Amino acid sequence: MMTSLTCRARAKHHTNRGCAKSRLRRRALTTPSATKHVTCRFLDLSSDEDCTMVGALLNEYASDAMGGATPLAPDVVRTVGAKLNEVPGAMSVAAFDENCVPVGLCNSLMGFSTFKALPLCNIHDVYVKPSHRGCGIAPQMLKLIEEEARARGCCKLTLEVLSNNESAKTSYEKYGFQAYELDPDAGQALFWEKALR
Ligand SMILES: CC(C)(COP(=O)(O)OP(=O)(O)OC[C@H]1O[C@@H](n2cnc3c(N)ncnc32)[C@H](O)[C@@H]1OP(=O)(O)O)[C@@H](O)C(=O)NCCC(=O)NCCS
Repeated sequence: MMTSLTCRARAKHHTNRGCAKSRLRRRALTTPSATKHVTCRFLDLSSDEDCTMVGALLNEYASDAMGGATPLAPDVVRTVGAKLNEVPGAMSVAAFDENCVPVGLCNSLMGFSTFKALPLCNIHDVYVKPSHRGCGIAPQMLKLIEEEARARGCCKLTLEVLSNNESAKTSYEKYGFQAYELDPDAGQALFWEKALR
């Protein structure tokens, strides 16, 4: 059985910017969750192995009821990690069980707050395998991203969540997220889209 220490020793970390890259190399969290012992680390998206992991976990997320319940196109599964690596500032964190099997994924993208004139960090995907949910793994992955976002001078973390995704909302609220609003009288932000492809 591979120990989490071996996991850490094997860990490779990555970002698209030079100084941030070495910072991520030092970053890993090993924490006994409520019932599961997991290690979280930044993925190295220049590595085929880590890119394969991103594609596989993202496909599980897309196949989940809260991810749309539709598997990704095989071409997306194959290429998404490498393409993410081309996005400036993108970060991926994965959680590994005591056997170094990946059990969670969190992808984030950099954005910009015009009202603060500062970068922000958008949490784009959060996924934990059903067997490992409710053990605090999502917050552990978010913690690594938050630390790096702070180091990059981001003014906030943002994310979107479906209104009926109670598990996610519970996890995010406990972590410190809240619905976006400027003036309560103006209501809370709604996330809209217009498909182009
Ligand atoms: C949302 C998700 C990432 C949360 O990850 P997690 O590591 O389980 O998060 P937490 O450990 O903080 O648990 C959050 C809540 O999930 C609920 N929960 C507990 N066990 C659960 C289980 N087996 N299955 C589903 N939800 C469970 C609980 O309400 C828990 O809060 P509580 O501990 O206060 O009771 C995970 O449920 C998931 O991957 N869901 C499918 C994909 C998804 O919805 N992603 C988020 C999109 S915005």
